[in-house]
Amino acid sequence: MTLEKSGLPICQGLSLGELVGRLNMGIPNREIVWIAEKCLGRDDLTWAHLAEEIPTAKQAAEFVETLNRRQSGEPLQYCLGTWQFRSLELCVDPSVLIPRPETELLVDISVATLRECINRYGVCLSADSPGEPERRVRVLDLGTGSGAIALAIAWEFRLTRDLLSVLGVDLSQPAIKVAERNYNFLVEQCPEFGSVVRFLQGSWYDSLGIRDEASFDLIVSNPPYISIQDYLELDPQVRDFEPELALVAGQEGTECLEQVIYGAQRWLKPGGTLACEIGERQGPQVLAMARSVGLERVGIRKDLAGRDRYLVGSRPRSSES
Ligand SMILES: C[S@@+](CC[C@H](N)C(=O)[O-])C[C@H]1O[C@@H](n2cnc3c(N)ncnc32)[C@H](O)[C@@H]1O
Repeated sequence: MTLEKSGLPICQGLSLGELVGRLNMGIPNREIVWIAEKCLGRDDLTWAHLAEEIPTAKQAAEFVETLNRRQSGEPLQYCLGTWQFRSLELCVDPSVLIPRPETELLVDISVATLRECINRYGVCLSADSPGEPERRVRVLDLGTGSGAIALAIAWEFRLTRDLLSVLGVDLSQPAIKVAERNYNFLVEQCPEFGSVVRFLQGSWYDSLGIRDEASFDLIVSNPPYISIQDYLELDPQVRDFEPELALVAGQEGTECLEQVIYGAQRWLKPGGTLACEIGERQGPQVLAMARSVGLERVGIRKDLAGRDRYLVGSRPRSSES
């Protein structure tokens, strides 16, 4: 059989290893094994197995096509269609940013904040005594993309039914669809997870209603924070494949952070916390923004490499501020 699309004559009956040999690509072995696992629907392959595995014609076609996509620079995560974020396996496609490891730290900050908040309220809900909806701890994830942050936070509290309510917002309707798909997969695995997370399409706070005012215990966001100039100089693997809407934030790179920070006072509960991922050189600017809108206990946290990457601040408890 000839696979016209790949431009490579491929005979049926060849093993995956033989196909790789004919294609002669510079893709790392580990990635080839992951791609083979995806095409065969397996999770137990090693490099050595490829010599023995004879794919069906359909699997061979998918394998060659996926290797070609990877060879042309498409990120591995899009080629595989899923990627790991904390303990979650999330679907990703070119309509969403690939979740990054540094964003896992933003989830750590969020989870620690929520635990403190739960202790402070003395809310001690269990599966046997679910909370009233209005007593749920409310989280807003702005620019939710694949739903990575919203879902990872909710997953941390999955065993305590009805403790949390998480709302993810994104301007991109295709991104909202990916987030919902990820949520539905998780609900299949863990039915307790149902009715905890909701996704809404809209720009930042615009889709919220009057009843949402002063209602969130935590607003978390990993907004776009790259300036137009830095975007032009980005690694082509990022710039040419990941959505521009997820990356670029005006001339300074702080336009989206500005929107998120300036709106926070109105939508946070008194005492509620804002936590944002930021670019490593944006600390002084975002601190000034957060202070100018009256947030208190404002600070910058570092990532594992010691870079300034997260803004944290709280709405004062007294409503006069
Ligand atoms: C850096 S990505 C973060 C995605 C995801 N939260 C994560 O951490 O992997 C930023 C997200 O903000 C969204 N976005 C851009 N402009 C927006 C706006 N005006 N309102 C809401 N979301 C927006 C993008 O579509 C994108 O999904």
